[in-house]
Amino acid sequence: MKLIQVQNCYKVYKNGTTALADLNVTIDKGEFVFVIGSTGSGKSTFIKTLYREEKPTKGNVVVGGINVAKLRNSKVYKLRRKIGVVFQDFKLLPKLTVYENVAFALESLGMETKEIRPKVMNAIEKVGLKEKTRNFPSQLSGGEQQRVAIARAIVNNPKLLICDEPTGNLDPETSKEIMKILERINKELGTTIIMATHDREIVNRMQKRVLIIENGVLAGDYLKGSYKAHESIKNSN
Ligand SMILES: Nc1ncnc2c1ncn2[C@@H]1O[C@H](COP(=O)(O)OP(=O)(O)O)[C@@H](O)[C@H]1O
Ligand SMILES: [Mg+2]
Repeated sequence: MKLIQVQNCYKVYKNGTTALADLNVTIDKGEFVFVIGSTGSGKSTFIKTLYREEKPTKGNVVVGGINVAKLRNSKVYKLRRKIGVVFQDFKLLPKLTVYENVAFALESLGMETKEIRPKVMNAIEKVGLKEKTRNFPSQLSGGEQQRVAIARAIVNNPKLLICDEPTGNLDPETSKEIMKILERINKELGTTIIMATHDREIVNRMQKRVLIIENGVLAGDYLKGSYKAHESIKNSN
């Protein structure tokens, strides 16, 4: 079943930069999709339109039945509830503990403490940080901080998890751990995952669907398992 449908999507920023030009893509529920392409090709812009951080200039972007392009600002919270987002720089609140960082979003939804606690503990357990619930971000390694960010993103069981260069600040070994966690979330919770990256090694190893964005258009769409094959064909020529 379709979760995301992007049709004839354009994004022109205020300064005149065209970041997306007639982008078309469909993503099903439960898929794990990499988004690759050179710096400035439009990966982040594409991702930002999905959670309405940026409004498409033209075209349709439908996420979980909501037309993001036409969504009123006052209704954006309904979309955001369905989506968790993870960034390259973690974006944790430095004065809150691991537990508090993960609980924060649920508290702002007005959820009760006794409902919040099991959800938070469950998310923290999923990323393997049970021993660090009382630590502050500054007392954690980069990989651990990213795991907290992932726990925070999945705590309310979103349909969609969006990751923009989540391993961009991490060494290869730590990146592998993060990828294992993302893969587990995708498999066990059925969460659809979209991850922008320029780590070719990860993309080649994981054998997922790969979308290539170049100059704001879809320049390639390789089905699960077919991207590495494509690369080796290219290399052997
Ligand atoms: N807020 C913005 N205002 C103007 N131009 C922007 C803005 N954000 C991104 N861009 C431009 O849009 C293009 C695509 O950027 P981006 O989506 O961040 O690419 P990527 O994530 O692939 O590196 C680039 O030319 C970039 O400079
Ligand atoms: Mg980017």
